[in-house]
Amino acid sequence: MMAGAFRIALPAGLVLASLILCAPFGIPGTNPRAGVEAASTQLDPEEREGLARLVGTCKKCHEDVCKEWEGTLHAQSWTDPVFQAEIAELPDKGESCAPCHAPQELLLGGLGKLPRARMKDREVGVNCVTCHMLGNRYSGPFDSTGHGGVDADEAFRKPDLCTSCHGQPEVRPQHDQGTSFRAAARGERPAGCQDCHMPPVTRKLVTSPTIKEKYTIGEQACRMHTFVGARRGDLLRLAALVEAVVQGDHLEVSITATTGHALPASEGRVVRLLLEVTEPKEAAARVLKTWSHGAGSLPANDVVKISAPLGAVKRAQLRLEQVLPKVPGRTEEIVQVFTRQEIER
Ligand code: HEC
Ligand code: HEC
Ligand code: HEC
Ligand code: HEC
Ligand code: HEC
Repeated sequence: MMAGAFRIALPAGLVLASLILCAPFGIPGTNPRAGVEAASTQLDPEEREGLARLVGTCKKCHEDVCKEWEGTLHAQSWTDPVFQAEIAELPDKGESCAPCHAPQELLLGGLGKLPRARMKDREVGVNCVTCHMLGNRYSGPFDSTGHGGVDADEAFRKPDLCTSCHGQPEVRPQHDQGTSFRAAARGERPAGCQDCHMPPVTRKLVTSPTIKEKYTIGEQACRMHTFVGARRGDLLRLAALVEAVVQGDHLEVSITATTGHALPASEGRVVRLLLEVTEPKEAAARVLKTWSHGAGSLPANDVVKISAPLGAVKRAQLRLEQVLPKVPGRTEEIVQVFTRQEIER
C-alpha cells in the first residue's frame, strides 16, 4: 500500500515530528496526516527539510514583517479551524487543498501557476519561504544586499504572485479573485492586489535593532504584511459606493463595488442590501437584494441599480453588509457593515 511506502521513505525523526505536529490543530478526532496516508501523493524530492525552523529564523531580523504575518490567515492557512473542519469531512482529508493551503515555494513552478503541495510542516501555512525563496536564493521587490544579494523581481508588485492561489478557477473557483479582477474596468484605480491588501509603510527592510546599519540600505517604501481583508483591518469602507435617492414612491439605489474584484470576493459569504424601517417601525429588516460569489456577484467598478417601493415608509436605514454564516469551525455568524445611510421622506 502507498501509505506503508510513504512512511518508510521518511527518516524516523520526521515521523515523530509529524505526530507532534498533529497536536496543535485543535480539532478533536481529526488527524491531518491521515490524508497524507490515504492519498497517492509522494514526498517531492525537491521539498525542503526544516521549513518551520527556517521560517522561525526570519523574525530575528525582519521583526515587524513577521509579527504582521503571524496575525493573518496566511499564517493559519492549514490550522484555520474553518478549514480543518471542512477537510475532516473530505474523503482525501484535504490532500487536494494542500497546493494552496500548504504550498511549496511559488518559484518552483513559476508565479501565476498552481503551487506544489507540501507534505511537511503544514502548520506554517503560506509563509515567508513560500513567497520569497527558491533553494538558497531570496527574491524581493528591491535590489538589496541582504542574504548575499537578493534577486530583485518586479513580480512582487504584480497580481500574478497572488493569483497563483487566488486565481485558479479550474482548480478552486470558490477562492478565485483573479478572474473578476482581470475582467474589471481599471481606469485610475490602483493596479494590484498589493495596493489594497498590503498597506504602504516607510521603514527599513530589517527592523531588528540587533542588525547593524552597515548591512541595510536604509528606509524604503515598503508594504505591510498584514494582508488586510474585511475581517481585519480597515478595508470595509473601501468595499462599495452606495448612492440612494427617493424618487416618488421608490428608493433608487446605485451600488458600485470598489473592491478590485467581484463582491463578495469568495464563496461561503453573502452580500446583502437591507432596509431597516424605523417609521412606521417594522419588526424585521427588508432584504432588497443579495449577491453571492460567482455569476451572482457584484462586478468590480460597475454601477448596479436597484429600485425598491417605499409604500408608507417615512424613515429607514439602508445598509450594505456582508455575512459570513456560522459553519463548522466558526462559532458565530460574522456581519460586516460596508455602508449605512439614513433615508427620510
Ligand atoms: C503571500 C506572499 C508573501 C508572504 C507570505 C510574505 N511576503 Fe514578504 N513580500 C511579499 C510581497 C508581494 C512584497 C513586495 C511588497 C512591495 O511591493 O513592496 C514583499 C516584501 C517583503 C520585504 C521587502 C520590504 C517590504 O516590506 O516591502 C521583506 C523584507 C519581506 N517581504 C519579508 C518577508 C518575511 C520575513 C515574511 C514572513 C514573515 C514574508 N515576507 C512573507 C509577499 C510575501
Ligand atoms: C500560496 C498560496 C497563496 C498566495 C501566493 C497568496 N495567498 Fe492569500 N491566502 C491564501 C489562503 C489559502 C488563504 C486563506 C487561508 C484560510 O483562511 O484558511 C489566504 C488568505 C488571504 C487573505 C485574507 C487574509 C486574512 O487574514 O483575513 C487576503 C487578504 C489575501 N490572502 C491576500 C493575498 C495577496 C494580496 C497575495 C499576494 C501578495 C496573496 N494573498 C498570496 C493563499 C495564498
Ligand atoms: C487554488 C488554490 C486553493 C485550493 C486548491 C484550495 N483553496 Fe481554500 N482558499 C484559497 C484561497 C486563496 C483562500 C482565501 C481567499 C478566499 O477565501 O477566497 C482560501 C480560503 C479557504 C477557506 C476560508 C477560510 C475562512 O476562514 O474563511 C476555506 C474553508 C477553504 N479555503 C477550504 C478549502 C478546502 C476544503 C480545499 C480543498 C478541498 C481548498 N480550500 C482548496 C485557495 C485554495
Ligand atoms: C541575520 C539577519 C537576517 C535574517 C535571519 C533574515 N534576513 Fe532577510 N535580510 C537581511 C538583510 C540585512 C537584508 C537587506 C536589508 C537591506 O538591504 O536594507 C535582508 C533582506 C531581505 C529581503 C529583501 C527583499 C528585497 O527586495 O531586497 C527579503 C525578502 C528577506 N530578507 C527575506 C528573508 C526571509 C524569508 C528570511 C527567513 C528565511 C530572512 N530574510 C532572514 C537580514 C536577515
Ligand atoms: C481596489 C482595492 C482592491 C484590490 C485592487 C484588490 N482587492 Fe481584494 N478586497 C478589497 C476590499 C475592499 C475587500 C473587502 C470586501 C470583502 O471582504 O470582499 C477585499 C476582499 C478580499 C478578500 C477577502 C478577504 C477576507 O477578509 O475574507 C480576498 C481574499 C481578496 N480581497 C484578495 C484579493 C486579490 C487576490 C486581489 C488581486 C487579484 C485583490 N484582492 C485586489 C479591495 C481590493
